[in-house]
Amino acid sequence: MSADDTLADTPGSMSSDRFVDISYDDVIPNNVQLSSDKQLQRALETWRPKYLDWWNDMGPLGYQQSEVYLRTAVGVDPAGWAKFGYVKMPSYRWGILLAPKVEGRTIPFGRYKGEPAWQEMPGEHRSLLRRLIVVQGDTEPASVEQQRFLGATAPSLYDMRNLFQVNVEEGRHLWAMVYLLVKYFGKDGREEAQALLERQSGQINNPRILGAFNERTPDWLSFFMFTFFTDRDGKMQLAALAESGFDPLSRTCRFMLTEEAHHMFVGETGVQRTIEATCAAMVKAGIKEPGDVEAVRKLGVVDLPLLQRKVNFHISVTRDLFGSEISSNAADAFSSGIKGRFNEANLKGDDHVLQDATYPVTRVIDGKLVVEQVAALRALNSRLLDDFIVDCQGGVDRWNKVVEKAGIAFKFVQPHKGFNRRIGEFAGARISPAGEVLTEDQWNAKSGDWLPNDDDMRFISSLMKPCHEPGKYASWIAPPRVGVNNQLGDFEYVKIF
Ligand SMILES: [Fe+2]
Ligand SMILES: [Fe+2]
Repeated sequence: MSADDTLADTPGSMSSDRFVDISYDDVIPNNVQLSSDKQLQRALETWRPKYLDWWNDMGPLGYQQSEVYLRTAVGVDPAGWAKFGYVKMPSYRWGILLAPKVEGRTIPFGRYKGEPAWQEMPGEHRSLLRRLIVVQGDTEPASVEQQRFLGATAPSLYDMRNLFQVNVEEGRHLWAMVYLLVKYFGKDGREEAQALLERQSGQINNPRILGAFNERTPDWLSFFMFTFFTDRDGKMQLAALAESGFDPLSRTCRFMLTEEAHHMFVGETGVQRTIEATCAAMVKAGIKEPGDVEAVRKLGVVDLPLLQRKVNFHISVTRDLFGSEISSNAADAFSSGIKGRFNEANLKGDDHVLQDATYPVTRVIDGKLVVEQVAALRALNSRLLDDFIVDCQGGVDRWNKVVEKAGIAFKFVQPHKGFNRRIGEFAGARISPAGEVLTEDQWNAKSGDWLPNDDDMRFISSLMKPCHEPGKYASWIAPPRVGVNNQLGDFEYVKIF
């Protein structure tokens, strides 16, 4: 199916033969033959109105009656899974989509390595699986809640549309996890599905499970940093779960990863376009010195040192999501065949059981950073974090190319792994972006240079003026190089009513 084939379709006309693997005739679109499992279907149809209530109460504020140019999944093969069309968000066809089953798939790691992947719940690993699915599931609605106020200050209709696309897909990711809970965990699973709609980001009494998902996303720069860094944590976790011996989890996560790629694209290009606007304004005004903050801010663009401080904040909060670098829970999840490493099945050079292997972990010992060889099984979180850091660098390098091309002497860098951490090996230590261990006084004297300060946040907030005219962009962000689905520059991505 070519991309063009999909353009003429409307959301109501997706049941043609071409889309045979997803049933859009059902109340809940799916490719898991939901109608043949009446009990599951009933449970999900009972959950659906509660989900819609949550969406209306906690999803994007305003714009629910606007027509948004969204993509909807119409297949699960990577070549042609999406169609584009105007949809009101509450009418989005949230559904259950699993990547195709790989016949003969075996468990790629751990003590069951080489055995056939489990199609049914492996009873002895039930509680571990339940915990992992609930934690992953909890992040999905959390990010929608964090981003709910952003529509009102969108720097363009293009960006507003991207925000809403991310939001509806995070909603779908919640559906993905709820499907697993309800299908495989009986009454417990139904209760967990309900609780996922009750916890709330930032709420004191019943917050979301992980710290970063209770932070506010108060402005668009935070949104772009979040989708670049924090959605990338999502990618790493989903990739590790996509290796799972529990095949329904693996297939669920594999399809989620195709959606996740777009969220990181929104983040990377959002930051990049911010950098482009800054560099263009600096060049035009003849400002060479990136540290000439006052002059740069007067141009209505974000100075590069402030962007670096935003990077430092979001990356450090996100690194905490990987958990303790040395962890016996991670070892259990691996040995049990439940959660693998990033890219596990394609990793060469070890036995995928890791009984005798070691892995280098940086630790703080007697006030010094020391690299220790740790049992590889217990160092899996550390390894996944290292893979994340490598994965981030590609985007950071592309941002630096923009600055370089403009002839401005500035380079974005990832701070040291131990910078500003609250969880794991570095919690309690004060470490500079360059990786020096500091005293509390040294930290207090410098941290305002490294993390966004009140002045920074006030300035960013002063830039957050809506720009809702088709084809127009706020001063601080450049237009995208290519429109969504190749639409032209003045395309009306959101018809606001
Ligand atoms: Fe997600
Ligand atoms: Fe995401």
